[in-house]
Amino acid sequence: MKDINILAIESSCDETAAAVVRNGREVLSNVINTQIDIHTLYGGVVPEIASRKHIENINPVIRKALKDANMTWDDIDAIGITYGPGLVGALLVGVAEAKALAWALKKPLVPVHHIEGHISANYIADKTLEPPFAALVVSGGHTHLVEVKDYGSYEIIGRTRDDAAGEAFDKVARAVGLGYPGGPKIDKLSKEGNPDAITFPVAHVNGSAYDFSFSGIKSAVLNYLNGAQMKNEEVNKADLVASFQKAVVSALVDHSMMLVKEKGYKKLAIAGGVSANSALRAACEEACKEAGVEFFCPPLGLCTDNAAMIGAAAYYEYVNGTRGAWDLNAIPNLKLGER
Ligand code: KG4
Ligand code: ZN
Repeated sequence: MKDINILAIESSCDETAAAVVRNGREVLSNVINTQIDIHTLYGGVVPEIASRKHIENINPVIRKALKDANMTWDDIDAIGITYGPGLVGALLVGVAEAKALAWALKKPLVPVHHIEGHISANYIADKTLEPPFAALVVSGGHTHLVEVKDYGSYEIIGRTRDDAAGEAFDKVARAVGLGYPGGPKIDKLSKEGNPDAITFPVAHVNGSAYDFSFSGIKSAVLNYLNGAQMKNEEVNKADLVASFQKAVVSALVDHSMMLVKEKGYKKLAIAGGVSANSALRAACEEACKEAGVEFFCPPLGLCTDNAAMIGAAAYYEYVNGTRGAWDLNAIPNLKLGER
C-alpha cells in the first residue's frame, strides 16, 4: 500500500503545532511553538492572546514541519486539523489555515477531534497497539474514561462533573503559589513530600460510578490552606501537594481499573497533559501489572498538546473516508464520537 503522509495542525489552546506523520504511526516532524511563557504572566491561558499568537506563529510552524520532514507539499497526501473542542478563537486560526491550504493545494481536509488526537498519541508510542482498549484521557480541559472500540469509534463511559483533572492541578498549584501550569510543578514538588500526610476526600458521584468530581478535593486543599493561615501555622507545601496528587491519582486509577475489569479489557492507555504525571504513570503501571492488563502511555512530549497526535488520528479518519467540507467550522464544545 502507498504511504500516506499527513500534515497535521493543532491550535486548540496555547500551543501552535504542526507535524508530518506517515501512516499514522511514524512521526517525520513535530514542531510545537508553546505560548506558556506569555500566559504564565496572567496565571492561565488568555484566549484573546492565544488567538493572536497562533496567527503570528502558524505559518512559520507549518513551514518548519515540512522542512524538518524534508518534504515539499507534493509529498503531502492530506491536511489534518483539530476542529474542536477548545478555545473557539484559537481553533479558528488552525481551521481557517487548514482549509486555505487544502483548497489551494487541492488536498483532502481531515477534521480531527482533539481528544481523539490525545488517545492516538499511543499509536505513535507503541506501533503494536490496536483497538479495542480502554483509555483514560486527562488534560487541562477534559477527564474522560473512554472505550476505544475501533479506530475512530469511541464511547465515553465516565467524565468529570466539575473540574478537569488538569484544571484541579492548576488551581491547587496557583493557591499554593507554584504558578502556571500547575501539573508539572506539583508533580516535581510532590517527590519531596509525604503523600500520606493529609487525607483528602476522593469524591464519588452518586448514580454514576465511572464519573469523576475534583472540585471537592480542590476545595478541601483551599480550606486546609485557609485554616492554617488563620491559625498562623506553617504549611508543608510538599506534603500538601503530594497528598492532593495522591487523592486525584487514586480516583483516576480506581475508575480506570473498574472499567478494564468490568468490561474485560486487556489494555489500558492513558493520554492528555496529566498523563505526563509521574505518580499517575507509576500507579497505572502497577495496577495494570497486578490485573494482568497491558499498560500504554505516550512519551512525555506527546502527552501535552502537539500536532503529531493529530496526524496519527487524522490517518485513521482519512482511511475511514472522513473529509472536511469547505464550510468546516471550529466547534468549541465538540463531543467525542460526534460529527
Ligand atoms: O493536554 P494538555 O496539554 O492541554 C489540554 O488539552 O488541556 O494538558 C494540559 C494540562 C495542564 O492542566 C497541566 O497542568 C497538566 O496538563 N499537566 C500535568 C503534568 N504535565 C502537564 N498534570 C500533572 N502532572 C504533570 N506532570
Ligand atoms: Zn489537549
